[in-house]
Amino acid sequence: METHAWRVENPHGRRRVLVTKELPGKRWREILIAADCRIEIGSGQAPLEAVAIQAAMGTRCHGVIGQLTEPWGEALFGALAAAGGRVYSNYAVGYNNVDLAAATRLGILVGNTPGVLTEATAEMAVALTFAAARRVGEAERFLRSGHFQGWLPGLFLGRLLWRKTVGVIGAGRIGEAYAQMMVQGHKMNLIYHSLGPNRHLEESVAAYNRFLVNQGEVPLFCRRAERLRQLLQAADVVSLHTILDATTRHLLDARRLALMKPTAILVNTSRGPVIDEVALVRHCRRHPDFRVGLDVFEDEPALAPGLADLDNVVIVPHIASATRWTREGMAILAASNVAAVLMGWPAWGRPDLSTFLAENNPPPAAPSLINAKDLNIPRYEP
Ligand code: DGY
Repeated sequence: METHAWRVENPHGRRRVLVTKELPGKRWREILIAADCRIEIGSGQAPLEAVAIQAAMGTRCHGVIGQLTEPWGEALFGALAAAGGRVYSNYAVGYNNVDLAAATRLGILVGNTPGVLTEATAEMAVALTFAAARRVGEAERFLRSGHFQGWLPGLFLGRLLWRKTVGVIGAGRIGEAYAQMMVQGHKMNLIYHSLGPNRHLEESVAAYNRFLVNQGEVPLFCRRAERLRQLLQAADVVSLHTILDATTRHLLDARRLALMKPTAILVNTSRGPVIDEVALVRHCRRHPDFRVGLDVFEDEPALAPGLADLDNVVIVPHIASATRWTREGMAILAASNVAAVLMGWPAWGRPDLSTFLAENNPPPAAPSLINAKDLNIPRYEP
């Protein structure tokens, strides 16, 4: 088992904050140091187990910045509360690794890092879409292994997506950004499935259509599918942008995969368990023209048996948000969440968090606390 060392910064800080993995950038440290925190940063690559985190928190720990690979449930929140802790921030926008109800019961405020991941994640979904459509992984392996003998008319024929139909499941921030990129960048028709209508998205496509018509081009369609089945049957590309909870676990199972076109492209940058990965492997074996781009996996870091052998699947290791700007921004937001709670500041309460990323004078507020209302944290009033 990997041993975990903890590096200390600002040793004389009055408040003890654990950061379970090294984070990119410098600003996040400055934010915590300005809040008089001693920072203890975990080294090592492997995800930390609950016992290791609990041991590191010890009997005195005021706040933690943790990772989506850690099981933040009753045991860890109980240990944090017993150590005098008040706040935990996930270094992620998703928080399916967090038992929010347990945290709230124990009086621990929970933060996350929305907003800064939107474009980065959507761009990776676009990259995976085209890598799958144009067989980039397969073609690169072919070339690197010395099989290329010169240009051929039929070499790696892929799929043109221009003016085909993209289906977006989950039209929140990231789903909408991806949809806009596919509609306005690649002139794709759009079907989306979400809990409610996304008026902003629909109006943007309508405005784009006015532009197209003005240019003498055929407009695109944009509609919300009431039923997932309608989207799965009609789309040439399906991209997943849902949260992971009980309602979305195995949302795409064998039955729903079978509804998709045998030539469709499926992309997942949300959470692995949204797809039944064993069923997906079986489906891809049966349908070699079905193509898949995956950033996330059901049982990370493990892959379902056979997945990595499939030529019709492109895989990357959960890096959709991995741009320097994004990851530094996530660190700033996570540190700001922790620092603000330890300073007794209110919660921001607005969707736009860009003011926290600006160099000067961020507001004295916690950018994103998920259970602020439940724990009666007042909203920031400038
Ligand atoms: C998140 O923030 O939820 C992402 O999966 C990290 O890239």
